[in-house]
Amino acid sequence: MKKTKKPWTAHILTLFPEMFPGPLSFSIIGKALKEKIWSINLINIQNFSKKGPKYVDDKPYGGGSGMIIKSEVVHEALKKTIKKIKTDYSIVYLTPKGKKLDQRRVKKFTKKKNIILVCGKYEGIDQRVIDAWKMEEISIGDYVLSGGEIAAMNLIDSCVRLLPNTLGSSKSLDSETFQNNLLEYPQYTKPRNWLGKRVPEVLLSGNHKKIKEWKEKESIKITRIKRPDLLKKVEKR
Ligand code: ADE
Repeated sequence: MKKTKKPWTAHILTLFPEMFPGPLSFSIIGKALKEKIWSINLINIQNFSKKGPKYVDDKPYGGGSGMIIKSEVVHEALKKTIKKIKTDYSIVYLTPKGKKLDQRRVKKFTKKKNIILVCGKYEGIDQRVIDAWKMEEISIGDYVLSGGEIAAMNLIDSCVRLLPNTLGSSKSLDSETFQNNLLEYPQYTKPRNWLGKRVPEVLLSGNHKKIKEWKEKESIKITRIKRPDLLKKVEKR
């Protein structure tokens, strides 16, 4: 009997499962979902409250604004999810307090077959369940969203496009931005002359060696101007 390989799967613990797949059903990510290159497993945190769906959160000890999602509810939801997966997973809690997501971390998340994404709402979730499960706390940037769902979508999109067969050509991954900590060189298409602005001559020359050199030089140039912090990372290596 033919063994079907399980796709890379995002297991999402959320209070708002209706938000998914949402934008992830469009473009190359949506196509990959239809083609079962990846799959989505939605877990509604509300179903794991013993007292009923309204009792998933409570006021923070010590005072403060907002409500905190209870440990036990997230714990039960995780137990059930992991029982099904068994092995080969990362558990990620999306939070502005986490380590910043970058291309290196994205790549790492595609190496395991499953990613469990815990989405918080309100002021967050009880720290004890984060610690008990050794969740990896990940932020998508230094700004605060109203919940983890959009951050989770962001992370899934960046992972799925790296999965084998999602993009038509893996060549486009070789030169893209953040490969080798450089921003990608500028790109042009027809017409050669648009409003008097001409495409750099070298790109029309057909000289592959010169074109390659130009691309590398431009990459370094724009990285130096826009993101000198990335070049520092290259120098450190
Ligand atoms: N939840 C709220 N803000 C967030 C952020 N910046 N990154 C990840 N999850 C979040």
